[in-house]
Amino acid sequence: MAQEFEQTHKRPPYPMPPPLSFPETGLSAAATLDGVRERLSQDPYAVERNFGVSYVGPPHPITQQAAELAAGTFFTEWARDMNPGTHRLEKEAVRMMASLLGHPEAVGFITSGGTESNLSALRLARNLARKDSPEVIMPESAHYSFRVAAELMGLRLHEVPLDGAFRPRMDQVETLINERTIALVCSAPDGSLGQLDPVSEFAALAAQHGLYLHVDAAFGGFFLPFMRDLGYDVPPFDFSLPGVSSIMTDGHKLGLLPVATGFFLIRDEAMLQAIPTETTVIHNITATKPGDHAAAAWAVMQRLGRAGYRESARRILEVVDTIVAGIEGIEELRLVVKPLIPVVNFTSDVLDVEQVYRELRARGWGSTYGRLYDMPRIRFSIHPHRDLDHAHQLVAALADSVAAVRKRS
Ligand SMILES: Cc1ncc(COP(=O)(O)O)c(C=O)c1O
Repeated sequence: MAQEFEQTHKRPPYPMPPPLSFPETGLSAAATLDGVRERLSQDPYAVERNFGVSYVGPPHPITQQAAELAAGTFFTEWARDMNPGTHRLEKEAVRMMASLLGHPEAVGFITSGGTESNLSALRLARNLARKDSPEVIMPESAHYSFRVAAELMGLRLHEVPLDGAFRPRMDQVETLINERTIALVCSAPDGSLGQLDPVSEFAALAAQHGLYLHVDAAFGGFFLPFMRDLGYDVPPFDFSLPGVSSIMTDGHKLGLLPVATGFFLIRDEAMLQAIPTETTVIHNITATKPGDHAAAAWAVMQRLGRAGYRESARRILEVVDTIVAGIEGIEELRLVVKPLIPVVNFTSDVLDVEQVYRELRARGWGSTYGRLYDMPRIRFSIHPHRDLDHAHQLVAALADSVAAVRKRS
C-alpha cells in the first residue's frame, strides 16, 4: 500500500493546541480579526511560494464576484425546489463538464472535492451491483480516499502493484476479477506521480466483464482535454470510452475554482435508481453545499471558455518545462518520472533529499517531502497562477538548497 506522506511507521501524537475555554463574552470585531491575523501569520509560506499541496492560491477572480452574487445561497438535493436558480447553476456546471469529458448527457453533482466524489462512486457501484462481500480492484497508486470508502462500506480492496515504470500490472487486474467484484478504479492521472493509467484497458476489461469502472480524473478532468487541444498526444481517458461508468474531477486542482469544488459525473441517469431516494435523498455523500461554489464553477467556465482554459494550460506547461529543465540542470537531482501534468517529483542518489526539502523550506518555498514506493522524493504541485518568474525563482532556490546540502555532505 502506498503510504504517500508517511515518513515513519510510528504515528506521532495528533497535533492539537492546549485546551481552550469557550469564550464567555464576545470580543470586538477588531480584536477578533487581530486574532485571526495573528494565527494566519504562522502559515509558513506566501501563497505564491507554496508548491506543496495539490491546491494553493487564489481561484480565478470572477469566482469572488460570482460568490458575492450568490452569498447566502445553497444547494441540496432534497430541497432543490427551494433554490431552483442555484440548482440550475450547479446542474449547468455539471453539464458543461459532462460535455468536456465526452458525454453531454451524463448526470451528476458538484461535490466537496475528490474524496466525496470517490466515495460517491463506490457507493453507487456497490448499490448497483448488490453483491455479497463486494470487492474493488484498483492500482496501488490510486488515491487513499478509495481506502476510506472501502473501510466505510466494508468493501474488500485489491491493490494492483506497479511495474518499474510506475504503471499498474494490468495482467494482475484481470486475474483479480471474480464474481464478487463490483468495480474497477483507475486514475487519470494519479495525484502522487501524475501517471496516467491505461484507462482504455480498464474500460475494455470493465465492458468485457460487465463491471462498473470509475475514473479518478481529479487532476486530469480540467487539464487533459486542453492539453489535447494544444496538440499533446493524450490517450482516451473519459466517457468517450464506452466502459467508463463514472468520472470525477476537481475544480480546485487545475480548474481555477475555489476549494472545495469537485464534480462527480455518471454516464446514465438510470444508474441513479440504485440510490434509495424514498428514504435517503442524498445522492452523493454530503448534503447542503454553498451556492457560491456552484456560482463560481458556472462563472469560471463561462468566463474562460475552452480557449481560456487552454491558454491557462499552455502557461502552466511552460512553467513545468522550466522547472523540469532546472531540476535536470542540477547534477545531484533526478526526476522520478517525466511529468505529464503539473506535478513534478524528483529524488537524489547522492544527497539526503529530506535535507534539500528542509533547505527549501528555510528559504520560504513549500514542497512535499515523503517516501513514495520506498524512495525519498520531493514533489512540486504547480498551479495555474504560477508564472515563469516563479519558476526561475524556485529553481534558483532549489540550486541554492542543493549547494547547501552538498557543502555539509
Ligand atoms: C488523484 C486524486 N484523487 C482524489 C483526491 C482527493 O481530493 P480532495 O482533497 O479534494 O478530497 C486527490 C487529492 O489530491 C487526488 O490527487
